[in-house]
Amino acid sequence: MSEKNLQVVLASRPAGAAGETNFQLVESAVPVPGDGEILVRVDWLSLDPYMRGRMNEGKSYAARVELGEVMVGGAVGTVVASRHGKFAEGDKVLGTLGWQRFAVSDGKGLVKLPDPRLPETVWLGAAGMPGITAWMGLGQIGAPRPGETVVVSAASGAVGSVAGQLAKIAGCRAVGIAGGTAKCGYVVNELGFDACVDYKAGRLDAALKAAAPDGVDVYFDNVGGEILDAVLRRVNAGARIPLCGLISGYDGGEIAIRNVYSLLVNRVRLQGFIVTDRMDLWPGAMQELAGHVAAGRIRYRETVAQGLEAAPRAFLGMLRGENFGKQLVKVS
Ligand SMILES: NC(=O)c1ccc[n+]([C@@H]2O[C@H](COP(=O)([O-])OP(=O)(O)OC[C@H]3O[C@@H](n4cnc5c(N)ncnc54)[C@H](OP(=O)(O)O)[C@@H]3O)[C@@H](O)[C@H]2O)c1
Repeated sequence: MSEKNLQVVLASRPAGAAGETNFQLVESAVPVPGDGEILVRVDWLSLDPYMRGRMNEGKSYAARVELGEVMVGGAVGTVVASRHGKFAEGDKVLGTLGWQRFAVSDGKGLVKLPDPRLPETVWLGAAGMPGITAWMGLGQIGAPRPGETVVVSAASGAVGSVAGQLAKIAGCRAVGIAGGTAKCGYVVNELGFDACVDYKAGRLDAALKAAAPDGVDVYFDNVGGEILDAVLRRVNAGARIPLCGLISGYDGGEIAIRNVYSLLVNRVRLQGFIVTDRMDLWPGAMQELAGHVAAGRIRYRETVAQGLEAAPRAFLGMLRGENFGKQLVKVS
């Protein structure tokens, strides 16, 4: 094969906010699959906030990326050579293939695309890991009842957009929180939330009160920090908070909860969760979410960066909120 492989490796660990110099583009020969292996051409790479944690030295719930290693990442690809009994040339596959044009795999953790009728990228978004995260956190921890008010932060994003639409399907009032009038307009007008608070416009407490006049029963938190504190000022007794993410602190920021008192007096249940802890629930969740997408009950939006070279910049932009919906890279 005259084509070259291109990989994005972790060049250095960020001190504070991450920058483009923490990544390096490396060209190499396209790898050759051995017995029991396949060669996959990566078509679509998913960029996700958790990757920022993998760049750090410290311990987290998943292993860090070592210096010089290819950045970790979920992707959709095409099998271009197979020496594996279960995969054939031309198969479309989904798995952790990394920030690279070509990957060799022994097939572990790799699945064929569940339903070829849906767009390939949906398996990296609304019917993939982010959608399953929304499904799991809302369903298992939020457990919303019809008529309750569900507030979702980072509401226009990959996880938040699905969480809010699932809340609507469950018969709840869905209130989004997002940065800027364009994202808020999209959350209400296209995703069908009942209201959206633009946290960048100031007056967060007053805006939340207007959007959630009956208080908050479930807060699906993607952000932490000041927004979590503001919602804690509006929670009802017995509220549930699926703690999904703390993106306001990922890139060097401080994370603290000031309104701990509200957790006590309102008997709030706040529970963190990690979507990969329950892989047994993934197939059923994917099927249900794909059904909602096919029927138009769950809608989504994507921001696509062109070419692997654009991945570091797109990733850093996503941490700052420059993405609108699911952030992807069109690799090949
Ligand atoms: N627990 C799990 O297993 C699990 C799995 C997947 C994802 N997550 C978490 O879910 C969250 C959302 O992930 P995603 O993939 O759907 O990303 P996303 O929402 O598509 O993109 C990230 C968004 O976060 C918002 N944001 C960034 N900095 C912020 C800040 N300081 N304050 C408020 N909002 C900020 C931005 O939206 P605005 O422009 O609206 O600010 C940005 O667009 C992340 O925290 C992620 O770590 C958790």
